[in-house]
Amino acid sequence: MHADPTPASDDTTPSTPETAATGGAGKSIGALVYFSSASENTSRFVAGLKLSELGVNIYRIPLKPGQPALQVREPYLLMVPTYGGGDARKAVPVQVKKFLNNAANRAWIRGVIASGNTNFGSAYAAAGDIIAAKCRVPYLYRFELMGTREDTRKVREGIARFFRERNATAR
Ligand SMILES: Cc1cc2nc3c(=O)[nH]c(=O)nc-3n(C[C@H](O)[C@H](O)[C@H](O)COP(=O)(O)O)c2cc1C
Repeated sequence: MHADPTPASDDTTPSTPETAATGGAGKSIGALVYFSSASENTSRFVAGLKLSELGVNIYRIPLKPGQPALQVREPYLLMVPTYGGGDARKAVPVQVKKFLNNAANRAWIRGVIASGNTNFGSAYAAAGDIIAAKCRVPYLYRFELMGTREDTRKVREGIARFFRERNATAR
């Protein structure tokens, strides 16, 4: 039998955002959780989005096993680069799997954005397909490497719209 990774009563302390929301009247409208490896393509893309100005908290999934585990307890979009070298079954980085294996983290995911390299053909940005299917959330956008200026514009506007529309109804 598998033990549930989180206790029934979730008394885990939420992590502090890497960058906290500054816009939105001091309150966050939602969050972006991302992973980026040592090559930092995704972290550069995230920096260019300037999401904290829009009222979006940013959390980074730790790269190294010794770092404290990330705990997120607010609605978030997940941004993830694809790894696996063309094998779609290995597309989701282990650090992201570990984060999502925590049921309390998984409960707050609302959508996924993935990146990759089109050189990998059918495995291009495959991490997004896998996470969308497993977590039953929309696959909102995909982009290559550190993205283009057009990707930055679309993702920034898309994230703002996504949370605005959600928050107009329910979180
Ligand atoms: C070892 C390795 C395997 C990769 N496998 C894939 C893949 O299967 N599909 C894909 O679309 N991109 C793949 N990529 C490209 C990465 O997703 C891309 O370089 C991404 O921008 C890395 O983001 P990061 O620098 O934030 O970690 C791979 C890159 C590396 C280094």
